[in-house]
Amino acid sequence: MNKINTKLMDVPDEVSLKYCADIIKRGGTVAFPTETVYGLGADGLNSSAVEKIFIAKGRPNDNPLILHIHDISVLDKYVKEVPKTLTVLSRLYMPGPLTVVLKKRSIVPDSVTANLDTVAIRVPDNEIALKLIEYSDTAIAAPSANISGKPSPTMFEHVVADMSGKVDAIINGGKCRIGVESTVLDLTSDRPVILRPGGVPYDSLKLVIKDLETAYALNTDTPKSPGMKYKHYAPKADMVIVKGETHKVLEAVNKMSGDDYGVLCCKETFDRYNTHNKLCAGSINNPSEIASNIFECLRLFDMMRIKKIYCEYFDTKDIGEAVMNRLLKAASQNVIEV
Ligand code: TXA
Ligand code: MG
Repeated sequence: MNKINTKLMDVPDEVSLKYCADIIKRGGTVAFPTETVYGLGADGLNSSAVEKIFIAKGRPNDNPLILHIHDISVLDKYVKEVPKTLTVLSRLYMPGPLTVVLKKRSIVPDSVTANLDTVAIRVPDNEIALKLIEYSDTAIAAPSANISGKPSPTMFEHVVADMSGKVDAIINGGKCRIGVESTVLDLTSDRPVILRPGGVPYDSLKLVIKDLETAYALNTDTPKSPGMKYKHYAPKADMVIVKGETHKVLEAVNKMSGDDYGVLCCKETFDRYNTHNKLCAGSINNPSEIASNIFECLRLFDMMRIKKIYCEYFDTKDIGEAVMNRLLKAASQNVIEV
């Protein structure tokens, strides 16, 4: 792939957002912040622009992309039917960390949907993202802005590390508020199905969707969403999740010797691990804090050249379910019970 001269937009003001919108209109690629993770965007109605996303990421072509729109009012342009459930859902979570899968109209190119007859759509809850989409006057197709397989980017620096020389521009929007990707909800089956846990927790969706189903289980890896079957979120180090009562986890990990292993833990246990190579993701009582730091921690271990990561099994309530889903994948489902 030819090296691209990537513009780094450090100040996301009107002038630079309009400049980036122009890049999108001309079929280029722009990485931008959302409330979940950074996205790598291109004009979702332009197949050759969409193709550039797959090349920049090294992403398999059979993994479909999410179309980002700036307002739910334009949904009709891209999908055939809008189910009743969406009326409530869109009021609550659009904008927000919810992606819905619906029957697509022919205006959406097959390159976006990997030849499926459905399309995933979301309205991001981030001013920069919304303005970029609006000024681009299209729907922006965007996966997470990481090299395929690596941890998702939650900071400008992560995107610069992965995408410099591969995209036309990267917009700095600081640290992403939520830190894990959107919940993907399929509304095309008889009953609504969560394909990927994410920013909107199961319990919140269950309140408004009585017959809600899930197509994943934390400890198994049966892929339903096309993207779920690939190696994902993985740091360079081997990773193991250590599950059990706190004192047993501490005892097992503290028995390890050598300098090249690291520990990913919560604030409450941080001081009780012997190694210096430890990172705290947040308080065990605050799943949102852990979510917002988790991908950053995985990338920090890469920078520390850690060879093996022992990671605590965090609480799976609320957004904790999405966090453990990502960590289990990063660890290739490698769990030690102690
Ligand atoms: O928070 C997010 O969702 C971020 C930000 C940038 O919006 N985006 C993101 O995109 O995580 P990506 O490409 O990394 O993940 C999209 C997921 C994949 O698992 C993909 O397989 C699934 O959505 N997906 C996309 N279109 C689909 C479809 N038509 N049917 C089923 N799953 C679909
Ligand atoms: Mg991704």
